[in-house]
Amino acid sequence: MSNPVSSNSESLKSCDTIAVALGDRAYDIHVGGGLIASAGGRIAPLLAKPETVIVTDANVAKHWLDPLQTSLTAAGVSSQALVMPAGEPTKNFENLAKVIDCFLQVPVERSSVVIALGGGVVGDLTGFAAASTLRGINFVQIPTTLLAQVDSSVGGKTGINAIQGKNLIGAFHQPAMVLADTDVLGTLPEREMQAGYAEIVKYGLIRDAAFFGWLEDNASRVLSGDTQALRHAILESCRAKARIVGADEREKGQRALLNFGHTFGHALEAENAYGPALLHGEAVAIGSVLALELSERIGLCPQDRARQLIAHLTHLGMPSRISQIDNANTWSADDLLEHMRSDKKVSGGKLTFILANDIGDAFVTTDVQEEDVLAVLEESLR
Ligand code: GLY
Repeated sequence: MSNPVSSNSESLKSCDTIAVALGDRAYDIHVGGGLIASAGGRIAPLLAKPETVIVTDANVAKHWLDPLQTSLTAAGVSSQALVMPAGEPTKNFENLAKVIDCFLQVPVERSSVVIALGGGVVGDLTGFAAASTLRGINFVQIPTTLLAQVDSSVGGKTGINAIQGKNLIGAFHQPAMVLADTDVLGTLPEREMQAGYAEIVKYGLIRDAAFFGWLEDNASRVLSGDTQALRHAILESCRAKARIVGADEREKGQRALLNFGHTFGHALEAENAYGPALLHGEAVAIGSVLALELSERIGLCPQDRARQLIAHLTHLGMPSRISQIDNANTWSADDLLEHMRSDKKVSGGKLTFILANDIGDAFVTTDVQEEDVLAVLEESLR
């Protein structure tokens, strides 16, 4: 019979590893099955003292907190857990204070490593709390949603939401390691898988037409949890993100491509008051269509590319138009444009868009007329 240590070492072999090359802030992303069950063996060597704090949310804790703590205990690491409410409203000042207070009460030291076990909300909040505590302690990301595995857990963007907009308060703070355990996706609702898929398709749209073509053929397998297809899609996404972040950690240039669909998407989320009718990934899916429609409208991109993306998303049961969002019948293009004006991507007072010359060939521009933005919004609202 295998003991926890031998099953740990078995799992240590069954994953792929991608390096994020950032000098003294370099770290590995591990992708594969059984990574929570073997997390203790990977995290213990990072610790100066064999103790840690896990921040998670109530939904994730039900399934994955015990296995993580068991694995840490087997590796000789004691842990305490802070369980936050699930959902986007958790990313606020009050909860940031709670997480930092918990770290300080332990008390953590500069050399401590804490763990974010959850989706983007837990990862962003815990990462920002880690960045702010003692001017920066280390943290490990264990992302438990598809979206967090392919995007938010990698690259060091951390933060909370402000009344004025999403993620307006935060810091770049790279994790010490990312453990993307594909087993956790088996408990993820279909809608959450689809939301994460929007960030996967983004990598094809911005830089990699061949990957977009692969997704057109294989997306149903990815979303139904086919192990090989899912792992390939996560690995390709993490490789693309690691390359971009390695070249432009602080979004001075090409990292902005990762915001494809997000200028529109954040405006939709803000108009929806971050409510449950629209997940971040759904907003990105609709925003990606709008970015292609805007690119076509101003003559940058061949005329059928938005239709191609809409057909792909529709085939997968995903939204592609603003009018598909519950309550969007009361929304206006002017109000959406107003939200875009308070987005942190505004530069020199100008809206920044990621547009495309074609699928796989995106670029950053501020050279966009508001009347064209309003026109594509109005069409999508109809
Ligand atoms: N999610 C976009 C980025 O990490 O830059």
